[in-house]
Amino acid sequence: MTAFGDQVFARHASIHIDTDALCHNLQQIKTLSKTAKVLAMVKADAYGHGIDVCLPALIDADAIGVACLAEAMDCRKAGWNKPILLTEGAFSYDEWLLCQNQGMMCVIHQHRQLQWALSWAEVHLLPRMTNASCNDSIANIANHATDDPRPIVWVKYNTGMNRLGFDARQTQVAVAQLYAAGFDVVLMSHFANADSFKRINLNDQHNWISSKSQIQRFNDLLDLLRLTISPNIQASLCNSAGIIRFADQHHDWVRPGILLYGSSPFNDICAESLNVRTVMTFISRIMAVHHLQAGECVGYGSCWTAQHPCHVAVVSVGYGDGYPRVVDKTAYVCVMLPPNMKRPHHQNAKNDTLSIACPIIGRIAMDMMMIDVSHLARHFTDDKQTFVDLSELIGCDVVLWGQPPNAPHIDAIATSANTISYELMCRLGLRPTRLTV
Ligand SMILES: Cc1ncc(COP(=O)(O)O)c(C=O)c1O
Repeated sequence: MTAFGDQVFARHASIHIDTDALCHNLQQIKTLSKTAKVLAMVKADAYGHGIDVCLPALIDADAIGVACLAEAMDCRKAGWNKPILLTEGAFSYDEWLLCQNQGMMCVIHQHRQLQWALSWAEVHLLPRMTNASCNDSIANIANHATDDPRPIVWVKYNTGMNRLGFDARQTQVAVAQLYAAGFDVVLMSHFANADSFKRINLNDQHNWISSKSQIQRFNDLLDLLRLTISPNIQASLCNSAGIIRFADQHHDWVRPGILLYGSSPFNDICAESLNVRTVMTFISRIMAVHHLQAGECVGYGSCWTAQHPCHVAVVSVGYGDGYPRVVDKTAYVCVMLPPNMKRPHHQNAKNDTLSIACPIIGRIAMDMMMIDVSHLARHFTDDKQTFVDLSELIGCDVVLWGQPPNAPHIDAIATSANTISYELMCRLGLRPTRLTV
């Protein structure tokens, strides 16, 4: 948005965030997760939705999760006073110190982070451990602690994702050391394949086994830690897919991300059937309309050819705004015809906005896309008229994904771009105007 004098100029492409839908989705997750606490994942600017607008809607979450200290500080600046978890932990001892001063929780997934925690504890936690002797058992040392709440660290156990985390033996040692040093510990792990539901072909069979074996490893070690170190060790395993799929594995904390934002983590289960609502709606407007003869082509590379005379509308949005360039032929948009627009042949023409699906044609450019609006002609004329002027469409809203219900779902556009909704949400450009509804 740009201001010039008292005039404000905004690009037509805009992103609308429905905070009621976000609240609804959080409540839905809380219902599903019953007694488990909810750590709402808000990394990457709340999955591209904007941290400032999302945090107030997530106030009922028990904590939030971010990837790094910079994101955590942004959340504090935005007024979030409840716990924050840095899911990749501190990247230096200075970061660790700042996290402790700010009351932020860190994941510990590697040796150097463990050392920072233990050295810090020697100065800040050991003096609290009154009467503890070197020969005391871990449980005894912990029992000598004062009434001050023990700071919490999350220890990452690599159960099969092979991205971050300690192996079983290292985890056991790390948890024992951290607990003895005065920390409360949450044992955590992350699924590699929880989003893959089908068990039909060989690969899917592997995914099912892989999740089951991650669960088995996680619970075996958790049992051991609770037995040998403390029954108070907490646990967290489930992301969105895990919350839905493994209702008996919610443990003390669940960590939903994509489900909060109204998108399904699964290929074959739609968001609606998971009872979550779309939070983000991406809209632009029609900026020009053309009539083409049969045989004429559209856009870069002339990839689309009119098979018969048709009407093409140009929409002010492209990959420079974050719309994926690589969508296939299944991608479509919804043109919104306002109530006052001339629509002689449509029932209730005057009463409500009418949304009409239109296919995307030709290549998506940096700033524009083209859509076939030929079938809208019938809303403007009787069937006998051969040429129709659709220039009235200029200025009409076009929903690229989001609400209303017959607009494309972001999951459908992600599929037609051969990617996942997470990526579409996170890579929206700075150009679109941002609005809260
Ligand atoms: C450690 C961890 N937990 C939870 C999540 C949330 O995952 P989802 O958005 O699939 O629910 C993520 C996201 O990548 C993550 O990295």
